[in-house]
Amino acid sequence: MSSQFSRAFPPDFVWGAATASYQIEGATNEDGRSESVWDRFAATPGKVRNGDSGAVACDFYHRYREDIALMGELGLDAFRFSVAWPRVIPGGRGAVNEAGLDFYDRLVDELLGNGIVPYVTLFHWDTPQVIEDAGGWPVRDTVDAFTEYVEAVAGRLGDRVGHWITHNEPWVVSWVGHGWGHHAPGRMSDADALATAHHLLLSHGRAVEVLRRESPNSQVGITLNLDNPYAATDSDADTAAARWVDGLHNRWFLDPIFKGAYPEDMLEAWAEIMPEVRDGDLAEISAPIDFLGVNNYTSPLVAADENGGRSQIVRRNDVDRTDMGWEVVPEGLHDLLVRLHHDYGPRAIYVTENGAAFPDVRGHDGSVSDPERQSYLEQYLAAASQAITHGVPLRGYFAWSLLDNFEWAWGYWKRFGLVYIDYATLERVPKGSFYWYRDLIAAQRRRESGSEEAA
Ligand code: FCB
Repeated sequence: MSSQFSRAFPPDFVWGAATASYQIEGATNEDGRSESVWDRFAATPGKVRNGDSGAVACDFYHRYREDIALMGELGLDAFRFSVAWPRVIPGGRGAVNEAGLDFYDRLVDELLGNGIVPYVTLFHWDTPQVIEDAGGWPVRDTVDAFTEYVEAVAGRLGDRVGHWITHNEPWVVSWVGHGWGHHAPGRMSDADALATAHHLLLSHGRAVEVLRRESPNSQVGITLNLDNPYAATDSDADTAAARWVDGLHNRWFLDPIFKGAYPEDMLEAWAEIMPEVRDGDLAEISAPIDFLGVNNYTSPLVAADENGGRSQIVRRNDVDRTDMGWEVVPEGLHDLLVRLHHDYGPRAIYVTENGAAFPDVRGHDGSVSDPERQSYLEQYLAAASQAITHGVPLRGYFAWSLLDNFEWAWGYWKRFGLVYIDYATLERVPKGSFYWYRDLIAAQRRRESGSEEAA
């Protein structure tokens, strides 16, 4: 099944699955957790489909042991989850809520006890609402608040957590949350989006410094949502449009982190709305990191905009689509990984998210068959394996997601899990793709232990 590409993955390749706090935990009012911007956004009529919220989600907060047993059955090497800032410092600044940290303490110990390595994301979008009320990510003080929070988490978990991800997808937080208002906190200002991006990047740099101190033997990285924009034709206009999208999605974050500078062409375009960048900020942002986390789902086809904008996305007619409407473009992942390796040379790369939503349903026997998801994952893993063959230091892959969960503004409508959640009962039902991934991981292990022929 996977034999055509499995040979490319090195023996120590990390097979994982990813999640995020607000999407799975529930228990939003327990053990001292305060309101997050996502609780507020979800409670605002018209913001989240069907009025859904993360109040219960998968109830992972109470059922994590059961879910770790599922991870064991799957054979995962690693589990990526995020820590909810409003559990740790409910007031935004000041007192640390030990009861909130206790949950992550138990979670980390349970994972380690089951031989599963925790990959911990410090920020996957659930800013405390009190921080938003004090100005949120567009104000520089939030960098200090975030740094204090990272100190609290690293101080408690830093002895056992060996892999840290400072931020998840700063582009989405900046543009989707602050520029276009489709995500919490629902702001609609390009200037707020750019200020948010700068403060997320600066807080990343500060977090790296804190983690080096508090968790000295750990590996530290950041996760960006990246794609490989293709120009629709080789005309100058289409090429320039694709380069704009590359600047917007990719270079605006990669350049400061790996080169210590914002890209000139974008700076020129955004000169009027740039936030204050102080001397020394870019040096902090470009603190060396151990790995780059890549979230990739699709890659756009881009053309010049006939209506005078900078670019337009062209719909492909010859590709499959997922339930998000996202085009299935596995070669985009290959081309992206090769490009990152050449242009930025990160020491290591992990695919920290990749996966697909499909409208899964239970059959008469209660099972969930999802061949489209399996096919998606197979194609993307084949593309990743080719990148390894081409010299990319890809060290691991995390499927998004372990469980169906709260898919932000789409609520529970979009299902990305390897495990189906019956939201009425919270029953967990491994899908066909779960068993496929389990078998793939097991086949890799057999290969590692030398009994390849048996696979
Ligand atoms: C990414 C997010 C993740 C999930 C997937 C589908 O943008 O990081 O939380 O929603 O998309």
